[in-house]
Amino acid sequence: MYLFSRVFLFLFSICNCAKHINPSIINMNVLVTGAAGFIGSNLCMRLLEELSDTLVVGLDNLNAYYDVNIKRWRLEQLTGFRERFVFIKGSIADKSLVDKIFDEYQPQIVVNLAAQAGVRYSITNPDAYIESNLIGFYNILEACRHSYDEGREGVKHLVYASSSSVYGSNKKVPYSTDDKVDNPVSLYAATKKSNELMAHAYSKLYDIPSTGLRFFTVYGPAGRPDMAYFGFTDKLLKGEKIKIFNYGSCKRDFTYVDDIVEGVMRVMAKAPERKVGEDGLPVPPYKVYNIGNNHPENLLDFVRILQEELIRAGVLPADYDFEAHKELVPMQPGDVPVTYADTSALERDFGFKPSTPLREGLRKFAGWYKDFYME
Ligand SMILES: NC(=O)c1ccc[n+]([C@@H]2O[C@H](COP(=O)([O-])OP(=O)(O)OC[C@H]3O[C@@H](n4cnc5c(N)ncnc54)[C@H](O)[C@@H]3O)[C@@H](O)[C@H]2O)c1
Repeated sequence: MYLFSRVFLFLFSICNCAKHINPSIINMNVLVTGAAGFIGSNLCMRLLEELSDTLVVGLDNLNAYYDVNIKRWRLEQLTGFRERFVFIKGSIADKSLVDKIFDEYQPQIVVNLAAQAGVRYSITNPDAYIESNLIGFYNILEACRHSYDEGREGVKHLVYASSSSVYGSNKKVPYSTDDKVDNPVSLYAATKKSNELMAHAYSKLYDIPSTGLRFFTVYGPAGRPDMAYFGFTDKLLKGEKIKIFNYGSCKRDFTYVDDIVEGVMRVMAKAPERKVGEDGLPVPPYKVYNIGNNHPENLLDFVRILQEELIRAGVLPADYDFEAHKELVPMQPGDVPVTYADTSALERDFGFKPSTPLREGLRKFAGWYKDFYME
């Protein structure tokens, strides 16, 4: 019976490969931090649905930066996978907890998505960013480093979330990972750039294969309430005015969450190669990619499509007076006028580029919002 089930799992895994799943992530222990978060929960779902022999360990401190009910709801969606999904409530800033998790589960792949997100919040609450994004990330790096102790195979790939925010107010678009990103305009951006630098040093010193992913404005069902599309919806429903910054002339490369998850899955499976340099020391197995839609949308067009989809889903009535609920205001500190991803490196190395049209993604968001808040 046991043999039969292993053969079945093996055949199932082969079928999964046909769906672009690289065999190198089959049969692994994967640690996903920020597992109750927007991107983390979607990634866990994909991993559990498609890799039947993978153990997914999710870590999240379930902090109250935004409505914890949404984090709980996301975790509930994963309860069907109890045998292969272990959830641990705790912080990556807790070094002893992180070390304990690495000792117990010995993850071969680590996807660090836990972070204090949000640009504006970093202006009023810098402590949260230092704790999660710097101390927490340092703990993950240290745990990866010690995963090789006593000749163990250890972590094969550390994938971590960076952000398009690292581009600051760079004028040159589209943003390329070859561009200079030394002028962050928020502490959030500074912590994300620091993560890339820290990962580089650890890759060089301890030969840890690591890939940083600069995500561009991710949206979708059960997304983050602090983000504009979600906040706009809440406000319009309450009959409040929405503020459109930079008088509406901002452009954002909105990226649908399934595209982000697809990108992460592909990247996870292909760690940068370990090589030895002429000096006999490791050439850092280190990469950074953009994952964005490569198609920036004007904020006013975005709001128009959102409105149409909110009406279509029945969140707002067909005769809603949008003009009366719109206010065009100047730029906010920490904001940037445009984000636009150059995805050529992602396409070259992984044969993939996000492609979900904005209307399709917002339609799914509006449908989820209706079910979650209004049914
Ligand atoms: N959503 C986007 O548009 C976007 C864009 C660029 C980068 N990112 C990055 O992607 C990652 C995931 O973002 P998201 O949109 O899913 O955000 P999210 O806030 O929904 O998810 C992050 C999760 O991490 C958890 N967390 C925070 N600090 C923690 C800590 N110290 N220990 C354990 N858990 C902790 C939170 O409770 C949350 O559930 C983050 O690193 C974020 O900075 C997101």
